[in-house]
Order: sequence, then structure tokens, then C-alpha cells
Amino acid sequence: MSRIAYVNGAYVPHRAASVHIEDRGYQFADGVYEVVLVAGGRMIDTALHLARLARSLAEIRIPPPLCERALRLVLAEVARRNHVEEGLLYLQVTRGVARREHPFPKVPVRPALVVTARRGPGLPRDLARWAARAITAPDERWARCDIKTIGLLPNVLAKEAAVRRGAVEAILLARDGMVTEGASTNVWMVDAEGVLRTRRLGPEILPGCTRAALLEILAEAGLRFEERAVSAAELAAAREIFLTSATSYVRPIVEVDGAPVADGQVGPVARRLFDLFGAHVRGQR
Ligand code: PDD
Repeated sequence: MSRIAYVNGAYVPHRAASVHIEDRGYQFADGVYEVVLVAGGRMIDTALHLARLARSLAEIRIPPPLCERALRLVLAEVARRNHVEEGLLYLQVTRGVARREHPFPKVPVRPALVVTARRGPGLPRDLARWAARAITAPDERWARCDIKTIGLLPNVLAKEAAVRRGAVEAILLARDGMVTEGASTNVWMVDAEGVLRTRRLGPEILPGCTRAALLEILAEAGLRFEERAVSAAELAAAREIFLTSATSYVRPIVEVDGAPVADGQVGPVARRLFDLFGAHVRGQR
């Protein structure tokens, strides 16, 4: 079956899909993106993703390529045309095509919108097998990590360092020794006192949609949490660590920098949150 992409108003075969060499996304990483989980044929947390997209666009002053309703239709249509029941949608908006000059084009250009879809394995069945290793790495990104920009080189380098060391994620440490987030995930922990914590939103981290959904689920379930940053030392003493993202769901981390997290097994909080998030994804809440 051939894959179909959406490029600037047309549904085209994936292998024929292309953008201009002077697209500002290609030349300056002048654009933003979203990754939306598709589960059981439904797009998950679409409203959160589209709100974050609108915010990212506004922060870098790219006009919306389409209204929210039209974006939803395009996302759904790309999923449908690719027969994606379990998988991901990728949406990217760049400032558009213009002669290579750093300032925004003087004569406004049309933002470029690309949407692709990919099938995935779906929610993992066995959480112990989904558990993974992480490393820590210096956070070398810019000062506006709350914008979901396609400028991901520091994230790519950190992720590659993790993969080379047999890990799935790099947990990023700011210069002040505090955890910001993962290279492509938000980081959570249960501290030595048993308190569930994740960093408060701010320019240092991406406002994850999975993070937002999970915080709402926690509040509904009456489970306590604190939005408070974690130091490297606290991370090393954690009872549990886990990651969240549209592609990680809730992913337990059982080893950091070669040392086991507590007893090196998936902890009860990660298990509970994985189950709660699973119910959310299956539309059971
Ligand atoms: N990444 N932090 C960063 C730096 C991210 O890139 C992501 C998502 C997250 C989690 O956000 P969400 O829960 O909305 O997926 C946090 C996507 C999946 C990616 O780049 O592929």
C-alpha cells in the first residue's frame, strides 16, 4: 500500500511529496510541528495539540495555514488515506518559500503545511518490556524550549548519544543542575519521599500534551502530584522515573547512566499512570 502525504493543499504519494529548496524550514528551521497519536482509529488529545500548534505559530509569528476545523479534517483525512488505526500523524508548518534572507520575507508568503502519517505498534501490552534505559546529558538547547520548533539539532545529538549507549532517551540537565525534560519527552519522578513530581511549565520545557492529559487524569483520580523541578541528585535517588510523550505514552525508566532506578523494576506509580493513560487513549474515561 502506498503512503499518502498532504502538501500545501494536495494529497500526494509519499515518495513524490517534496518541498522547495528555499523553504525556510529547510534553510533556517523556521517552523513548528506536532506529533499526534492515533489509537483505535481516533486521534488522541487533538484539541491540546492544535492549541499548542496555534501558540507555537503565534510565538514565532507564522500565520495559521488553515483554521482549526480544516486542520482537523486534513489530519483525519491523512490518517484515513493511510489506513492508520494505530500510529502517528506528523504535522509541520514552516514560514514558507522565500529568497534566503534572515529576516521574515518582506512580502508575506504562504506558510507551508505538510502532514504525514505512519503506522505504529499501538499501546504496549507488557509494561516491563516497555521499560527502558536513559542517560543524562547537558541541555544545550535555546531559551525558548516551550515552542515546538523543528530546530531540533541539540535534541537529535542528545538522543543519538543515548542510543549509542544503549538507552532510549537523554534526560537533559540545565546548567543549574536541574532536570529540564527528555530530548523528546517530559520527565516525571517519584522522589525519595514518595512524591510524584514533574517540572512546572516555563520556557525551559515543551508543554507536553501527554503531560497535560495526565495531569488532568491525576487530578480527576484524586492523586497527588507536585509541579516542581528535580535536581540531578534527586533523580539519582528517585524511587521511580518515567517519561511521557505522544510516542512514549508513559514509559518507565529503570536505569539511568548505567545505575538502576531503585530496584530496577517498574514501580507502582508508573504502572498506575500507564493504566490510566491507556484507558484515556482507549476512550474509557
Ligand atoms: N516529542 N518534550 C520534547 C522536547 C518533545 O519533543 C516532546 C514530544 C515532548 C512531549 O510532548 P507530547 O506529550 O505532546 O508528545 C516533550 C514528539 C513526540 C517528537 O518530537 O517526536
